[in-house]
This record gives sequence, C-alpha cells and structure tokens, in this order.
Amino acid sequence: MINLSSPLTIKNKFIVFGGGFSGDYFAKLIRKLGCTALTSSRTINNDPNSFIFNSDKNLLPEDSIFNGVTHILSCIPPDKNGKDPVLKSLKNKINNTSLKWVGYLSTTGVYGNTYGDWVSEEDEPNPLQERSQRRLNCEKEWIHSNLPIQIFRLPGIYGPGRSTLEAIKTKKIKVIHKDNQVFSRIHVADIANAIIYLIQNKDKLDFHQIINIADDEPCSQIEVIRYGYKLLGLKMPKKILFEKAKKDLSPIAKSFWLENRRVSNQLLCKKLGYKLIYKNYQLGLNNCFINFK
Ligand SMILES: NC(=O)c1ccc[n+]([C@@H]2O[C@H](COP(=O)([O-])OP(=O)(O)OC[C@H]3O[C@@H](n4cnc5c(N)ncnc54)[C@H](OP(=O)(O)O)[C@@H]3O)[C@@H](O)[C@H]2O)c1
Repeated sequence: MINLSSPLTIKNKFIVFGGGFSGDYFAKLIRKLGCTALTSSRTINNDPNSFIFNSDKNLLPEDSIFNGVTHILSCIPPDKNGKDPVLKSLKNKINNTSLKWVGYLSTTGVYGNTYGDWVSEEDEPNPLQERSQRRLNCEKEWIHSNLPIQIFRLPGIYGPGRSTLEAIKTKKIKVIHKDNQVFSRIHVADIANAIIYLIQNKDKLDFHQIINIADDEPCSQIEVIRYGYKLLGLKMPKKILFEKAKKDLSPIAKSFWLENRRVSNQLLCKKLGYKLIYKNYQLGLNNCFINFK
C-alpha cells in the first residue's frame, strides 16, 4: 500500500500519457497523495484533468500542460511502425522540462516464448511476435532518450471493470485448454502501487532501469475462468482443446497461446521489497467481484 506520509505528498506534477485502464488508475492514486496528475486522451471529454493527445492525428497538447511537470508516465503502446508515440511527437518538449522521473509501461511479451520457464529481467529479450518487436524498439527509444527512465514490463493486466468476470458476463470467454500452458498476470492496483513505491523509495533503493511487475502465481487460464464462474455462481461450460479452438480465434488471440512463460517478480518483490496487494488471481478476482455489476 502507498505510504501517505512520503515525500511525494509535496506538490509534484505528473503527466500520464494514455489515461486508459492503467494510466487512469495510476493518476487517481497519485492524486490521493496530493500530487497533480493530468491524463491524456485521444478524444475530448469533460474531465478537467484530461488533455488531448493523439499522435496518429498529430493532435498535440498545449505547452501549458508541461508547466511545472516533475514526473511522466507513458502508458501508450507503440505505433504501427514500432515508434513510441510520445517520443515521436513530444521528445523536444519533454527534453526541455526538468524531470525527476519518467516511467514507461511495456510488456513481458518482449521475452518471447520460454516454454513455461521462469523469465526475469536478466534474460535477454527474444520477441516472437511483431508487436513485441515494436515494443522492444520503443523500450530502446526510451532508454536512449537521456531521460531518467524506468521501464515496467507487464503481463496480462486485469482489475475492477476489466477482468474474467466481465468476460464471462458478456459471453466473450472461451474455455480453452492447452497442456502445460500458463499465463502471468497483474492486478492494476499492483501496477500503480508498485510504481509509487519505487518512486517514493527511489533514494533508498538500488536503481533498476527495467522491472517486471507480475503476481506470484502464473497459472493456466482455465483455472482463473473456473474461479470466475464460481464467484458468479454460474456453471462453467465444457472446455475446448486449443487445437480445436484455434481456428475460431482471432490472430491476436491465437498469438497469446503461442507463448508460454512464467514472469518472475523476484527483483521487485524480493530485492526491492514491494509487497503485492494481490499475489494471485483468487485475491485479485475477489477484489474485482466486490463492485461487480
Ligand atoms: N492490457 C494488457 O493486458 C497489457 C499487458 C501488458 C502491457 N500492456 C501495455 O501497458 C500499457 C497500458 O495498458 P492498458 O491496458 O492500461 O492500456 P489501455 O487501457 O489500452 O490504454 C492505452 C492508452 O493509450 C492511448 N493511446 C493509444 N494510442 C494512442 C496514440 N496514437 N496517441 C495518443 N494516445 C494513444 C489511449 O487513448 P484513449 O484513452 O483515447 O483510448 C489510452 O489512453 C499499454 O502500452 C499496453 O499496451 C497492456
């Protein structure tokens, strides 16, 4: 949990590029510490803390957005050419601000397929999918940007409003089984809390430029789905074998089943001392169930 008496309570200003699921959660949490947090959106909305940024349409934020900014977190995926949307459009502007910290949300897809083995930050990335190659390229762009950058590699993100429970309710779920296949995952609250923990304890902890944020217990997708059905008091449909199901899967859905890895959180949780709020999917889904409609 965040430390409410930390140095971050003094007015720091965060710009969160990409106020989607994780970005919005992070911004709300950091505001609880008394910081300012502005989030970008590709479309106009009524949120006074939101500003427009759309790299595809070259819609750029006004200069005033950058006044007094101390921290930046980017939650925007690579563009179709593997360029980072924020650096592509705003690098000069960002370089002219005096930043204490910059964070970038990446994916554990950059590790590629480890055939079910554990993978850590010490392992060389070996992207299998094109989208993961694009992601690795963006990581490199951030690393070479000369900004005080920290990169967070994330597995499947879930949380209230976006979890197996919604997938069951909207019938978008397929109960697929593939022998020995596991997935790693992370609750959105742990992404935000881990990042804030690292910022708050920056001066006390060894600096690591790349950090995985994943829960303790990678497991099969069917295990999570079964638990979701149990929470909802519904009967789980019969499972379908992957070999049979794959012809009906979208290319992107199929591609997730071609990679099998267990993402290690030892650096974050053992070495750096972050305590997960939701160390496994049961705890995480219980939380999603609290306000589930
Ligand atoms: N979802 C997962 O399971 C998962 C797993 C690992 C890593 N990741 C990565 O982690 C990051 C955060 O994930 P998330 O699921 O929280 O993201 P998300 O909800 O999909 O939000 C993505 C944000 O990026 C913005 N965006 C996309 N393209 C843009 C562009 N060309 N110009 C400006 N803004 C743009 C979107 O704007 P709008 O708000 O206007 O739509 C949105 O705010 C993403 O990079 C994602 O790829 C996701």
